[in-house]
Amino acid sequence: MTALTDMADLSIEDGIALITIDNPPVNALSHGVRQGISDGLAQCLADDQVEAIVLICAGRTFIAGADITEFGGPMKEPGLHAVLDDLENASKPVVAAIHGTALGGGLETALCCHYRVCDAGARFGLPEVNLGLLPGGGGTQRLPRVVGAEKALEMMVSGAQIGAAEALQEGLVEEIVEGELRSGAIAFARKVVAEGAPLAKVRDREEKLQSARDNPGLFDDFRKSIARKTRGFLAPESNIRCIEAAVNLPFDEGMAVERKLFQELMRGPQSRAQQYFFFAERQAGKIPDVPRDTAEIPITRVGVIGAGTMGGGISMNMANVGIAVTIIETQQEALDRGLGIIRKNYENTASKGRISSQDVEDRCGLITGSLQMEDLADCDLVIEAVFENMDLKKEIFSKLDGIVKQGAILASNTSALDINEIAAATARPESVIGLHFFSPANVMKLLEIVRGDKTGKEVIKTCMSFAKRIGKKAVLVGVCPGFVGNRILFPRQAQAQKLILEGALPHQVDKVLVEFGMPMGAFQMSDLAGLDIGWNAETSKGESIRDLLCEAGRRGQKTSAGYYDYDEKRTPSPSPVVEEIIRGFSDKAGLALRDISEEEILERCIYPMINEGAKILEEGIAIRASDIDVTWVYGYGWPVYRGGPMHYADSIGLDNVVATLRKYAEQTGDSSWEPAALMVRLAEEGKGFSDL
Ligand code: 3HC
Ligand code: NAI
Repeated sequence: MTALTDMADLSIEDGIALITIDNPPVNALSHGVRQGISDGLAQCLADDQVEAIVLICAGRTFIAGADITEFGGPMKEPGLHAVLDDLENASKPVVAAIHGTALGGGLETALCCHYRVCDAGARFGLPEVNLGLLPGGGGTQRLPRVVGAEKALEMMVSGAQIGAAEALQEGLVEEIVEGELRSGAIAFARKVVAEGAPLAKVRDREEKLQSARDNPGLFDDFRKSIARKTRGFLAPESNIRCIEAAVNLPFDEGMAVERKLFQELMRGPQSRAQQYFFFAERQAGKIPDVPRDTAEIPITRVGVIGAGTMGGGISMNMANVGIAVTIIETQQEALDRGLGIIRKNYENTASKGRISSQDVEDRCGLITGSLQMEDLADCDLVIEAVFENMDLKKEIFSKLDGIVKQGAILASNTSALDINEIAAATARPESVIGLHFFSPANVMKLLEIVRGDKTGKEVIKTCMSFAKRIGKKAVLVGVCPGFVGNRILFPRQAQAQKLILEGALPHQVDKVLVEFGMPMGAFQMSDLAGLDIGWNAETSKGESIRDLLCEAGRRGQKTSAGYYDYDEKRTPSPSPVVEEIIRGFSDKAGLALRDISEEEILERCIYPMINEGAKILEEGIAIRASDIDVTWVYGYGWPVYRGGPMHYADSIGLDNVVATLRKYAEQTGDSSWEPAALMVRLAEEGKGFSDL
């Protein structure tokens, strides 16, 4: 075996050369890999002994894409296109041998080989769209030529992967190798040589494009079908335009379209934000004082206390991945209602064809109800989700302490209460942690893991891994009212309330937030959650718009009326009644109404969030700014193409954010506008949150 570079080597077995890429962890197409392929190929072509070449990878996967860390700088020669051209134009057959994931530039590399074989576990995709990009290595022109424009649209615009069986069916691979991939690929290469099979170039293929050529409405229909999901994103449309070019233009012209649109996206702020977010997500899993090798507590049985809105959703997360759950309630009726809702939810999913009726039974079968807390004795993890009341939670934790086996994790789903106080109700505060799911808990991706002062490292490590197991994105946060996500939400909601008293209407505020990219505005969100959360009919004195709306029976979507009126399809429309209530309230309070610009609405809603995020960092409640961004993207639908509130602040410049906060502090005399000291310091040093 000869080393080609520190990331690739070459060996020759009876006329078949193997270029092996070894660039852990994912064999990204870093400079050493490109150089290795290029040099290896040159040596093979010059060597008369070599009859065919196998491109294969060591470690856990085939090439999983371009090296994202190299983006933004100039690409060191040889560039990707040169290497891909060399592969495609090689005068000896090149076979890609694929295991793990062939993604992005990895799949594009495989598409430039003359043949592709894989093992049964291999997966294939062009996920560039998730980085705000499009495949820039010819994938937009080659994939449609292999799988057809229809399938290419689906794969490239969603970024979704397909498995080996589907790849074989689509013609993306020639063969699924049984047994060991390496020897199977060598045997395949020998067969190619023996049969004198042609040097097949994907670029020359046209036949799979015909059905799209015969269907002129294809692209516009597709655009309509994804419009809602991709609102605000630039990359999906650019991907579509490239596939249109593949269908309508000669190969080289299509490549030119790809190159132009790729460069536009690469230079734009959306891709920068999405690339940042790719690493932000992965950073969130790293806890400085909890090393990777920290022992974990095996979790096989989970208990949930409370079968209400959250308890039910939380239990579904477990059942979805085959973990048995026991749910505790105090009354049979509440238990039956909770279990009934879980079943109904699963049946709804099955009716949409997303799971089978057997799945419904299997999952419901994993969930057992009980009225006895003693039934939790053997659980490895218990998650409490009863009413948000400190005394009740303390009583439950004290009871759990006497029931549940030692070493088990005792978690609370509280959205704002002090985990340390809850932990102090037990004799094992090191086992207590917050697991803050978001509603609906079976859908929302975020899990805030709240670390108490005494929470043990093994408990933290286990919960971080457990989150992954149940498909959640975990962010570790410290104890403070509202933790990270809700604490940042509070000042935004407070400003939204002030804006409607000064002259903006709820739908005007919401429109600005939705156009910014949020899935819903501040008032739509309140209506969805219910205006009567924490509201008390007996003590309500009409002291806020919320009081007045609740008193008028407008409790949100569930009563078909809140800040908006709702029709039977839950479509909101601005309400003249609400406008009157707001205007009456402002009048009484002697507030002058004025026209408020969209720019002011945006600044007043978003900048206080950034300021709160800076305070959270100052206090050490979040480990890093990017964790705050992960929280807001996965917990509240902040548009990922704006990175998250902290990345957004960096992108507009912290000096601008500080100046704007000071402007409002001066205008309003309200000290909550004063910028956090941390942000002032960073702005003065010309830095951003990402420099911390
Ligand atoms: N470039 C650089 N680093 C990468 C990388 C890439 N393409 N893909 C993964 N990594 C790094 C991660 O940052 C992580 O680093 P860390 O350990 O320091 O945090 C490490 O590799 C492992 O990654 P994951 O934690 O994500 O490992 P998983 O096993 O969970 O997932 C994976 C593996 C499915 C390959 C996943 O990493 C992934 O989806 N990677 C990105 C794939 C992708 O987007 N490819 C397209 C790139 S753009 C492109 O190719 C442009 C071309 O068209 C020109
Ligand atoms: P809920 O009112 O829908 O459910 C609470 C359930 O707990 C009820 O079914 C009740 O019968 C049961 N319960 C009360 N006392 C009990 C006891 N001693 N033993 C067993 N069961 C008992 O409330 P929801 O919305 O599910 O909230 C639960 C917790 O989750 C609260 O702490 C809340 O702050 C938190 N949370 C709520 C979110 C939401 O959007 N609803 C989001 C995130 C957290």
